[in-house]
Amino acid sequence: MTIDKKRTLRSAAWFGTADKNGFMYRSWMKNQGIPDHEFQGKPVIGICNTWSELTPCNAHFRKIAEHVKRGIIEAGGFPVEFPVFSNGESNLRPTAMLTRNLASMDVEESIRGNPLDAVVLLVGCDKTTPALLMGAASCDVPAIVVTGGPMLNGKHEGKDIGSGTVVWQLSEQVKAGKISIHEFMAAEAGMSRSAGTCNTMGTASTMACMAEALGTSLPHNAAIPAVDARRYVLAHMSGMRIVEMVWEGLTLSKILTRKAFENAIRVNAAIGGSTNAVIHLKAIAGRMGVDLELEDWTRVGRGTPTIVDLQPSGRFLMEEFYYAGGLPAVLRRLGEADLIPHKDAMTVNGKTLWENNQDAPQYNDEVIRKLDNPLIDDGGICILRGNLSPRGAVLKPSAASPELMKHRGKAVVFEDFAHYKERINDPDLDVDASSVLVMKNCGPKGYPGMAEVGNMGLPPKLLAQGVKDMVRISDARMSGTAYGTVVLHVAPEAAAGGPLGIVQDGDWIEMDCSAGRLHLDISDEEMAQRQTARAEKLAQVKPAMQGGYQSLYIDRVLQADEGCDFDFLVGCRGAAVPKHSH
Ligand code: FES
Ligand code: MG
Repeated sequence: MTIDKKRTLRSAAWFGTADKNGFMYRSWMKNQGIPDHEFQGKPVIGICNTWSELTPCNAHFRKIAEHVKRGIIEAGGFPVEFPVFSNGESNLRPTAMLTRNLASMDVEESIRGNPLDAVVLLVGCDKTTPALLMGAASCDVPAIVVTGGPMLNGKHEGKDIGSGTVVWQLSEQVKAGKISIHEFMAAEAGMSRSAGTCNTMGTASTMACMAEALGTSLPHNAAIPAVDARRYVLAHMSGMRIVEMVWEGLTLSKILTRKAFENAIRVNAAIGGSTNAVIHLKAIAGRMGVDLELEDWTRVGRGTPTIVDLQPSGRFLMEEFYYAGGLPAVLRRLGEADLIPHKDAMTVNGKTLWENNQDAPQYNDEVIRKLDNPLIDDGGICILRGNLSPRGAVLKPSAASPELMKHRGKAVVFEDFAHYKERINDPDLDVDASSVLVMKNCGPKGYPGMAEVGNMGLPPKLLAQGVKDMVRISDARMSGTAYGTVVLHVAPEAAAGGPLGIVQDGDWIEMDCSAGRLHLDISDEEMAQRQTARAEKLAQVKPAMQGGYQSLYIDRVLQADEGCDFDFLVGCRGAAVPKHSH
């Protein structure tokens, strides 16, 4: 990397002139007590903060921002912190996914319109990571990700419990009559007992690992617990590094290359990562002009052993993952077996992915297992296509039951999430363990926002019989903390006219993961007839809300196979300095 301190700073177009405009830009900033020398050729670094008390996972971010600032100042930069829309997974209804694109627009326009030379992206809760990377990628400025870090292990009745995963487990135990509602509620405070994000390998931890595997963060960013002092050291070092990245001209397009995405896909398989990564990586790649296909997940990811033994697929939590060596230990293990597709991919510290991780210490072979003793032989994401999912669907084999990976069963159909809730508890529901639960209208347009409802809880009457898993199919997503033989992201979704919408109770469905096939066993003629009848009904459906952001969302959102971005947001628009405002 060449350091060029004479490089013209983007921020100089605001702060670097002695005319009326320069006066205005500087003068108003000076009301914050900023001395004149801050405006003299220092890189202006935005700290893009998703802090919010409504996003509990990111509620400690003001403290992280302070440490980032220390690093920026130490390296000779001028830090300016600014808020962006905070997509909190736990509180936002109908789903935080509805506003991921909104947040990305906020980020993109905040960067482009302001006197910034680079940004530090403070991310944590699931959607905040892709939203900020998408927005920054569309501007192609130097950017570095600082994640808030996972919560400490949950503790309940002397045992470790994992965010989210324990909720699914305990709620099924309540329904099966094995524990009382009081026992259930007693676990609440124990599950979330420190600052930070979900401590399972859910979507937040997955996306933190993806950011590190993509090369957009410093090593170890993914796993250091939120309350560990080393998290704040990492924030400080990231602040120092982003200033150097400005002088080196190390923008996101030099890091977010096709090579980086292929590395990330491989890493997702090795960590047993969330299915949500399929959608988010596609959306980030789309902003950068990298054409990622669903089949890349098969080509690059399948056959990779899952070696990280974390819930929901395995046993441990993020705290143990960090103590075992974190993502660097995984990358070293993969690289030594020639399982990193592109060791030479560039990262934010100016070194390649392999240079950063080739000597990483490995402290615990139970948490980060050896390749000859994996948690799952073939991790990765299974892509299913067929007449039921012409544009693809996904399934996470590491969270599924091996005996259900090839299955033929009769459909039990729910028209939407409300219908599912109304019907699933019916003791007369015609369902057995071999049935296939099918839920419609939970996709991007249908829900709207493609909520994490795809891991439908099983019928209580089957739970009481001891049934633990069934094949479930929908156009929804599922929480990264959930598990089961769950086919998700069926595209096109029912509300966009996809064939999922024509499935009826009693139809036979065939799923074969190794063949990548999802088939509705009706004739082509029957399919065509039902599709015609369905199209007439669909044309009459009115969205629940007229106008507002939801209308924009429903009109312009792309399907799951395209990353659920808005059609008009795909691509990199750069960060050319806009016209003056006065
Ligand atoms: Fe925020 Fe899981 S709910 S990280
Ligand atoms: Mg989640």
